[in-house]
Amino acid sequence: MKLPPAIIGATGMDAFTHSFESFISNKANPICDMFALESMKLLSQSILEAYHEGTNVHARHKMLLGSTDGGMALTASGTAAVHALAYPLGGKFHIPHGEANSMLLPHVTRYNLDKIQDRMAIIAKEIGLIKDDTISADKAVELLIEQMESWTQELAIPQDLKAFGVKETDIEELALAASKVTRLLNNNPKTLDIKDIEELYRKLLN
Ligand SMILES: [Fe+2]
Repeated sequence: MKLPPAIIGATGMDAFTHSFESFISNKANPICDMFALESMKLLSQSILEAYHEGTNVHARHKMLLGSTDGGMALTASGTAAVHALAYPLGGKFHIPHGEANSMLLPHVTRYNLDKIQDRMAIIAKEIGLIKDDTISADKAVELLIEQMESWTQELAIPQDLKAFGVKETDIEELALAASKVTRLLNNNPKTLDIKDIEELYRKLLN
């Protein structure tokens, strides 16, 4: 109950990323899907309340369950490129893991988009962003990416690597380190070469 809002925001986005990446990963399977969808639903219902209202036990309860379900999802499946690119940011620049994931999530999702549209539409429906079956997959995808961006903003997570001292000249070394996280890159629905990784980091240097 005493966890500070910034930690709630960062760890909450980390938990959401566990479930999201597990669900769109090459290793996704029915057991992962069940936990991942329930996790994303619980987290999306609670993350802002838990962040803004420190004494809201119901919101924190939902976050705990959502986070645990996310752990089950990633154990059954695995995370992917968001986590692979987040690790060097934590290792070299001490960027909190959840903040790095939250910054990268919309950009990596856009990169993966042509491979994950159908899965994105399922998530958008599950977390209540679309209530109407006639809505197009394109629109569902757009709403889900907007939701990721608006959480990052409302949780006061920086959206620019410059806030952590990262410079253009650091990109090459970061991308090289990320390219070695093959354990996770192999789970990503779309292949990333070192130039793709550099481009993704550059999107966070405005
Ligand atoms: Fe994580």
